[in-house]
Amino acid sequence: MRVAPYNPDSLDMSDGNPTPSSRPTAIDLVAAAVARVTPRALHPRIDAVRHDVRQMVRSLTVDKTHPYSSPGSTVDAPPPLDEISIVSALLPASLAERYDAIRRDVRSMTRGVRGEKAPVTVDRKPSADTARAENPSQGASTEPARSLQPRKMRVVEVRRETQDASSFVLEDPSGAAFSFAPGQFVTVVSHVKGETHRRAYSISSLTSELPRFAITVKRVDGGLVSNHLNDTVRDGDTMEILGPSGSFTLAAAGPAAPEQLWLFVGGSGITPIFSMLRDALAKHPWTHVTLVYANRAKDTVIFREALDEVSREYGARFRHLPVLERQDPYAEVTGRLDQETCAAVCEVLEVPADAQCFVCGPEPMMDAVRATLLARGVPREHIHEERFTSPQKRTHDAPASRGGHKLEIRYGRNGRKSLVTRPDQTVLEAGLEAGLDMPFSCTMGGCGACKLKLVSGSIDMVEPNCLLESEKAEGAVLACVGCTTSDAVVEVP
Ligand code: FES
Repeated sequence: MRVAPYNPDSLDMSDGNPTPSSRPTAIDLVAAAVARVTPRALHPRIDAVRHDVRQMVRSLTVDKTHPYSSPGSTVDAPPPLDEISIVSALLPASLAERYDAIRRDVRSMTRGVRGEKAPVTVDRKPSADTARAENPSQGASTEPARSLQPRKMRVVEVRRETQDASSFVLEDPSGAAFSFAPGQFVTVVSHVKGETHRRAYSISSLTSELPRFAITVKRVDGGLVSNHLNDTVRDGDTMEILGPSGSFTLAAAGPAAPEQLWLFVGGSGITPIFSMLRDALAKHPWTHVTLVYANRAKDTVIFREALDEVSREYGARFRHLPVLERQDPYAEVTGRLDQETCAAVCEVLEVPADAQCFVCGPEPMMDAVRATLLARGVPREHIHEERFTSPQKRTHDAPASRGGHKLEIRYGRNGRKSLVTRPDQTVLEAGLEAGLDMPFSCTMGGCGACKLKLVSGSIDMVEPNCLLESEKAEGAVLACVGCTTSDAVVEVP
């Protein structure tokens, strides 16, 4: 099942995570002080020790029955290490706010003096709704519409994870902020042999590593973009991205992180899961994670050593069951993760009927896992899946008459704009060109952010895309992969 479309407005993404951070404790302050006088490379280690000590102290001071007696209760996530200000923590609350504001201003002025662009911390552009409310008669936003132009990121490091997979560490060269929720993906816009291609790649790093973040790309047999990135991109290069997008995040499991998190993964499906599982272990002390990770052979296991490190760090809270097709002492289960193997694994691991499960990998594996979990009584809404479809696999015979029609776009109570689409121009491109502030994120049919309601006429979409059959039956269309095939009227929800 696809989880509800990602709605950036519903999350507090100030630190890239929907969970609010608490004020620093004495332990946080000591860790921050140590971090100030040690090289940056040691910060992750210091942060890990800080989390351990916080947990230890908490286990001594909090009622031992927590969290099992009150699964709905939450524990504040600690503030990110690099954001802790020792002075601010020592000041009274009224002065601390003022001090933080001055600190931010000075930082931004320093950036300005250095000639760097100020980080984008506040979106000053009025939302589409505000603009419409202020100017309903005009219809379209008076602000320039969002552009389909991707954001340029600098590649600061390329890490070879396996023979076939690389992680690319990216950052905005202007210093502008970037935020994401673990499990989300970005759309990479690549120019190969004179053509522009878009592909979705999941973020594999942690929000605590921001403003840098990493995507991991595994080669696909004959894959134009995955091979191009693995073969040609080097440190210092520029990569163009859109997003982040996607609702395959822990928030899909509910407002509080689950006590038991079950992850079923095949091959490069580990990428979003790797970010998600480390985030859950670091931020939610009551969460236990089980990872069932299927691969062909040991040397194709992405993040193999890093996962061993996670096991050492979190002990009994992290259980990893490697499944390999080839015989190998590393494997706990040998064979493909088909329905039979999956059923046996679930039986041995005693996956409970109320488990919250996240599944990512090749289609046959995902189908087998879903069928097995449903057979064990796990409700559909507890099975969260991320499916990426390679455009090469898309089988779509586009009608000859795409574009060149009258299109009316309705929004708000009275807003409407009429335009004529050009041949092969998507509804999104046409709307943006006309100055409308249309919602979108991935621009490749993968996230649902650009969903519109078709009121009349016909729109042809590239298939497959992320819309459910039930949504299509209700008249939903995706503006980013939809072209008019007759005069049409659509509504922006
Ligand atoms: S923008 Fe993501 S589906 Fe259209």
